[in-house]
Amino acid sequence: MGTARVVFDRWDGRYAARMTGVRSSAVRDLFAAASRPDVISLSGGMPDVRRVPAEAVLRATREVLEHQGATALQYGASEGRLQLRETIVGLMGESGVRLRVDDLIVTAGAQQGLDLLAKVFLDPGDTVICEGPTYVGALQAFSAYQPRIVHVPLDERGMDTDALEELLASVGPRGAKFIYTIPNFQNPAGVTMCPERRRRLIELAHEYDIPIVEDDPYGRLRFEGGHILPLRALDPDVIHLGTFSKIFAPGMRLGWMAAPRPILAKVLLAKQAADLCGSAFTQAVAEVYFTGTGWRRVLADLTGAYGERRDAMLSALDEHFPPEVTWTHPEGGFFVWVTLPSYLDTKSLLAEAVELGVTFVPGADFASDGSFRNCLRLAFCYEQPEQIVEGIRRIAEVIDDKLELYRAFAAAGAVPAGTRP
Ligand SMILES: Cc1ncc(COP(=O)(O)O)c(C=O)c1O
Repeated sequence: MGTARVVFDRWDGRYAARMTGVRSSAVRDLFAAASRPDVISLSGGMPDVRRVPAEAVLRATREVLEHQGATALQYGASEGRLQLRETIVGLMGESGVRLRVDDLIVTAGAQQGLDLLAKVFLDPGDTVICEGPTYVGALQAFSAYQPRIVHVPLDERGMDTDALEELLASVGPRGAKFIYTIPNFQNPAGVTMCPERRRRLIELAHEYDIPIVEDDPYGRLRFEGGHILPLRALDPDVIHLGTFSKIFAPGMRLGWMAAPRPILAKVLLAKQAADLCGSAFTQAVAEVYFTGTGWRRVLADLTGAYGERRDAMLSALDEHFPPEVTWTHPEGGFFVWVTLPSYLDTKSLLAEAVELGVTFVPGADFASDGSFRNCLRLAFCYEQPEQIVEGIRRIAEVIDDKLELYRAFAAAGAVPAGTRP
């Protein structure tokens, strides 16, 4: 696991230039601190796999080894096993997306999909349009291919399509390689793109002839409000990334990409170079796990638990956070996005929070240009409600200390060190 420690590197100067812009994610860097048993982790977006019954996975694994060992332990098709692709077609159908098995390939999580898309589409200097803030892992995957990443602001109704329109007018037709969006329960902002903006985004993408990449890991984790059709349901040109990480287990490393077939053909070539094929074994286990109805009960249980944790977090924020601070109200997914007064830097608050035994992710990690320094992401997916409440209380303590210091200095006509009014 990565650490923030800088070590002398005698191979420095020999790496490809493309690695210069690739930064480690704070979520990964925090893994060691956040893994201490006494630390309340409100940082990592880790699904609560403790609620996935080991017995069900064991049964599926045993069945695979007893009946399909010869194929499950062998290399498989690069596009993924047929039965799993049929399962995915069924899952997507339930979300309102009509697909055939040849419209999708299985990937090693949605993350591999992001990397493969970057590999297939991006040359150095190309423009990529992302929401601001956006998913750290996407920034990491894209930045290895040296694009210019431009952010479009978000609000409670998702990507601001008026701002997008302005940006597109300035870059012109085909002026960006793709528009990357996480429409449902966005990571990190927790917000969901409303149907009107979804339609507008698609219109604009067609007008400017720029593909949309829709990343939807959290769409089935809704605990409030009604289902909103994915972009791919409205437009077959949309490239859609899905994953089993949040509805089953991230340890399986299974996801998928649905895309127009010429794009899939290119992505498949890139995937063959990356890993020949995904793990036939975990695909076969997932096939068995998703046969029958047991997985639906597990998913309903997980979603119910996440909903309770969201409620615990929102009421703790109401109770403990000062009035200068605002936050989003997610209807599903894992994350709440918090905005502090502009003169506070959440990276410097993090060290103090870790001392108090709680972690979050500083906002600057979610943009390529260091914006959102006064923001932070809170994850409610992993800890129990009591821990979440205690974690919020501790973060509030850190923020209150800083605000008090600021108020005292401001009253004396000075500015405290480490703040940027
Ligand atoms: C928006 C988003 N995309 C992709 C991923 C990667 O998921 P996977 O485990 O499927 O690779 C995540 C994981 O947290 C995510 O939040």
